[in-house]
Parts: sequence; structure tokens; C-alpha cells
Amino acid sequence: MALTFPIYPPARYAGQSEPVKRPKEFACFSYDKEHNFRLDDSSLKWYYPPELPANLSHGLDKFVQHDDRIDEHLDSLLKTVASHERKTGEPIDADIVTWRGMMTKIMATPFDDQAFEMNATLYRYESFIEENHAFKEQQRALEKKRVGKNGIPSSEMQYWGYKFETLSTLPRPWGETSREYIENRDQEIVNNKEQYCSVVRTGFGKTIVCLGGEVDAIWDAKPATPGDPINWVELKTSAEITSYNDQLVFDRKLMKFWIQSFLLGVPKIIVGFRSKDGMLTSVEEFQTMSIPYAVQRRGMAKWDGNVCIKFAALFLEWLRMSINDEGVWRIRRRRGVDHIELFKVEEVGHGRIITDEFMNWRIML
Ligand code: A3P
Ligand code: MG
Ligand code: MG
Repeated sequence: MALTFPIYPPARYAGQSEPVKRPKEFACFSYDKEHNFRLDDSSLKWYYPPELPANLSHGLDKFVQHDDRIDEHLDSLLKTVASHERKTGEPIDADIVTWRGMMTKIMATPFDDQAFEMNATLYRYESFIEENHAFKEQQRALEKKRVGKNGIPSSEMQYWGYKFETLSTLPRPWGETSREYIENRDQEIVNNKEQYCSVVRTGFGKTIVCLGGEVDAIWDAKPATPGDPINWVELKTSAEITSYNDQLVFDRKLMKFWIQSFLLGVPKIIVGFRSKDGMLTSVEEFQTMSIPYAVQRRGMAKWDGNVCIKFAALFLEWLRMSINDEGVWRIRRRRGVDHIELFKVEEVGHGRIITDEFMNWRIML
């Protein structure tokens, strides 16, 4: 039998907001150009404004694309957590461990109709949540066939996002980068296997959450004191805004931009605006913190950041109460349905959510 958590009306989650903790990075890892895991910050990038205009489709034929048919579970996140615990000799003491992307979906739920599926398991006192990869694959297969209103395949439009990252970042700080590199970024091969991931501790109401997520770039340098805010930069592309309707669509998109950045404590979002056929024409900076207010003031898109936060806080509290014994649980949100379902898919064990390596480490700790 499935347990259910109500989504609507959003007003249910209005009112006094839940206390949130500022996310603090306590560890990080990288994937190199071959997507090999590295316990360091070697794939960190520095933001440096792109040359305008630029053709975002340039180099599409040379795109080195990560094969996302492989289910990576929580493996890299767990490796990084275990390594941190080995260093400090203490457990990270979170209630929930997951990828930032899962929390983004949960927080967006009151104002976004997207379906999702996740697997969750309890190990000792912590819940581990991963994406249900098989479901994601189905969604991706449908997405691949899609062609945009501009007649351009969605795969090419996705390339634009990665191309914008390559045009706007440097692999070393500006002071250590040659003029030649900066001027020839358009020739760089776009590779989305390479990533820098930040691992943070954050809090929603009564729940301590450990999140891992990709960060696109840094503005200057990491602070000298660990735990101090970091000047992260999130890069996004979006269609130029030329009408009331464009602004409405953009204001809706800003909710996801805001949630995604809020969760890792990314203070700045740089949006590269592009024409319908993929010419990058301008770049604009947004302060993550001011986005909910700016959107509300325009009054076009109806979403409320406080409702997102409160919804997530109460949902996580409910989830922790409900996932109370062994096995694997499915968290499911279907399109157009007014609740999130939770039901068991395996009676014992932890599926493939946590690795044996991680369990063995925890037994020793
Ligand atoms: P844009 O966001 O500029 O479109 P992120 O913004 O999270 O750093 O991701 C970088 C790029 O990956 C995105 O660029 C987009 O091209 C692609 N991407 C990320 N999430 C996606 C999703 N859910 N579906 C399709 N493409 C996605
Ligand atoms: Mg990214
Ligand atoms: Mg980005």
C-alpha cells in the first residue's frame, strides 16, 4: 500500500517559513575529461565573460558527450563522504544524503508538474535517495525525439548550454591564463564528461541534508576559511526576451534556476541570452537571493520560494518518519496528480543505492 503526501494547495505550505541553514561545502570531487572520478578540485573552472556574439552550435560535431545510460547511483558522492569521514574520524551526521538534482525536483513540486521517480533506503539513521534511473531513461528517450518550436532538435539545444560553459570559463584563474587561450575559447572542444562537484551540508526545518551537485564555475577563489560562503557561479542559457510571453516563460524558468543555486549556496547566476537559432547575444547577472522577490514584483509567474522551502521541509520530515525499516522505497510523482506516493519496491536490503564499500566503511566507523 502506498503512503501519500499532499502537494496542493500551495497555500497549505505558506505562512511562517521553515528555518533553513546556509549550505556549507565540506568536501568536493571532480570528474576529469574521461569522466574518471578524482577526489580533488581539478575540474574547477573560473568564470570569465564570453566574447559576443557567438554561435552556440559551433563545434557540435566534435562534442564529447557523456553517456548517461549508465546508472551512476550515489557512488561518487558516497566515496567523497567516506573519504571525508576517514579524515575527520567522525560521521557526517546527516538525516538525508542525495544529489542536489533530487532536492531540486522535490522543492519545485508545488509549482511544477514534472513527473519523477526516486529510490530511497534507510541505513542506520540516514536515508539515501537516488534517482530511479530506468524512469529517467524513459523520459530521456521521449525528450530525444523532441524538436523545438524553432525546428532545432533538443540534442542541439542541449549542446548550446555546454558550449556556453566552455565560452565563459577558464581552466585556471584569469591571472594564470594566456590571452591566446581567452581569445580562442571558441575552438575548445566541448566536453560534458568533466565536472566539479561540491558536497555540502545544509538544513531544511528539522532535517539535516547532505547534497552533492555540480558547480559550473567560481568567480574569484575559494575563501581561506573552510565553510565561508564561496563565490560560485551558475551558468545558464535562455532565449532572448522580446515579448510579455517570453518574460513569463523566463520567470517560470527562474524558479528552477533559483532552487538549483539556492541548494548549493551559489550566489550568482549568469544567463547567456541567445536568439532562436542559437546565437549568443548578451549576458546578464542575477543574484540568486533576489530572484524570488524580482519575480514576485513583476507578478507574472506564480511561484513562491518560501512555499518551495516549506514544502521540502515538511516533505522530508514526513519521508523520514515513513521510511522506518529495511528495504527499498519508491518515491513517485506523476504528472497531474495531487500527491507524492511512497511505497516499498524491495522488502530487504538497500538495492544498489548504497555501495558495499560504503557500508563496510560505516561499520568500521
Ligand atoms: P542550459 O541550462 O544553459 O540549458 P546546468 O545548467 O545544470 O549546469 O546544465 C548545463 C547544461 O546541461 C544545460 O544548459 C543543458 O544544456 C543541459 N541540461 C541540464 N539539465 C538538463 C535536463 N534536465 N534536460 C536536458 N538538458 C539538461
Ligand atoms: Mg552545470
Ligand atoms: Mg549551468
